[in-house]
Amino acid sequence: MTDIPPHQCLLIIDFGSQVTRLIARRLRELNVYCEIHPCQNVTMDFVRRLAPRAVILSGGPDSVTRQGSPRAPQGIFGLGVPVLGICYGQQVMMEQLGGRVESGHSSAEFGRARVTPAGATAPILDGWFAGGPEQVWMSHGDHVSRVAPGFEVCATSPNAPCAIIADVSRHFYAVQFHPEVHHTPNGAKLFENFARLAGFTGDWTMSAYRDRAIAAIRQQVGDAKVICGLSGGVDSSVAAVLIHQAIGDRLTCVFVDHGLLRKDEAREVVSMFRDAYNIPLIHADESELFLGALAGVSDPEAKRKTIGRLFIDVFQKHADAIDGAGFLAQGTLYPDVIESVSVSGGPSATIKSHHNVGGLPERMGLTLVEPLRDLFKDEVRALGRELGLPPGFIGRHPFPGPGLAIRCPGEITREKLGILREADAVYIDQIRRHGLYDDIWQAFAALLPVRTVGVMGDGRTYDYACALRAVTSVDGMTADYYPFSHGFLSETATRIINEVRGINRVTYDITSKPPGTIEWE
Ligand code: XMP
Repeated sequence: MTDIPPHQCLLIIDFGSQVTRLIARRLRELNVYCEIHPCQNVTMDFVRRLAPRAVILSGGPDSVTRQGSPRAPQGIFGLGVPVLGICYGQQVMMEQLGGRVESGHSSAEFGRARVTPAGATAPILDGWFAGGPEQVWMSHGDHVSRVAPGFEVCATSPNAPCAIIADVSRHFYAVQFHPEVHHTPNGAKLFENFARLAGFTGDWTMSAYRDRAIAAIRQQVGDAKVICGLSGGVDSSVAAVLIHQAIGDRLTCVFVDHGLLRKDEAREVVSMFRDAYNIPLIHADESELFLGALAGVSDPEAKRKTIGRLFIDVFQKHADAIDGAGFLAQGTLYPDVIESVSVSGGPSATIKSHHNVGGLPERMGLTLVEPLRDLFKDEVRALGRELGLPPGFIGRHPFPGPGLAIRCPGEITREKLGILREADAVYIDQIRRHGLYDDIWQAFAALLPVRTVGVMGDGRTYDYACALRAVTSVDGMTADYYPFSHGFLSETATRIINEVRGINRVTYDITSKPPGTIEWE
């Protein structure tokens, strides 16, 4: 990467707060490139190589008054770059620079609080306190009771005498609250001021990123060939188009159709890549193989594992036919890469075995190309627009690798999949007609493994029931069900029952995540 000019970088040292990622989100929205690294991995060697223009110390669950609690490398305070401490980050800064932090029940503050100016001002507060006290979000047990030499108190709250403190001459700032969360409505302004003071010029744009990424792909790949597994989702599609712009026909995409796709999906993907982009594409219709192997399988994990295993076999079979391929492209995103500080320290329970191509590169002796690994999902969409992908394609709801198999609880048959495809298509059409598609993170129909009795015309029916699911979410980790109007729901139910043969009952799933998951299996 040496001959590619680097973008300006901000380092976020993560002390394990649940909301550290939001700091990165706020900065990216300001076109500031930043990287999150767990505190235990940040050495001064690493910091010097990264050469950040500024450092942010995140919040975290520990107490700096506890012996052995994490610290920032002392050297970051001697780099001559601005430093912003947030919550635990503020306390760590005071502890390391000669201030004092106290614990105690009376100093705890959780939830909304109001901060008021306390004498000293600082340029990081431009645009703050114009209308009086500011609302902020607090979540702390300890508090700073004495500031370090050089610092002054700029604002206080009822339980945080040092809610905002600053050493303006060194551009060291620290706040007790969380400016990164939405409950601190004016928080973005603090980040904007901080970035300006650190000299960031907003050079993190998707058009600049595209040029850099293309140069980096060319440098990494050289004259070799790349293969890319296309799922039809946004991430792999954007990765493929970007790589194609970098190396042209030395990229071959493999689209494995496992027979579990939505209505018209295979046709749409193939026509976009072959016809619109002219990208070499192997369309592997392997539906017989997958559906054959899934016959009689009803356990959700068994389904997922069968699909994951076959996918790797099939992908490998087709990839082997591409002579000279040395690289495998993947649409890995930044949230998958961020290594969070584990608060519990223990392994998390496996809820579902997610399907991806993990393990493939080692088996095939390929090197990974991951041109999206610095990006958040919304940045991938912006890059997709930059690359000219059709807007309807970029905004598509996520679709899981195991496809309709995990929306059809119980045994899968071609008949059930056909019914599910039609119901899903009517449902999505309804959502689009009502202009709701972009307000919803993900919507789909699931076909229930029960038949129920109904009456249509003068006759008895005995058909399947389906469930409709629609959720709002930020990252798929938690989700709320979407509050459709009763009018919308009844119109959709009527259309599905009238237009889809095999369904005579429609229900709406109002479970949030947790306790539910988004998919049914
Ligand atoms: P759950 O059902 O775990 O889903 O709440 C969270 C998000 O992940 C998607 N999902 C998957 N995506 N392979 C994928 O690529 C999978 O195996 C898989 N399982 C679930 C799901 O659609 C939702 O967006």
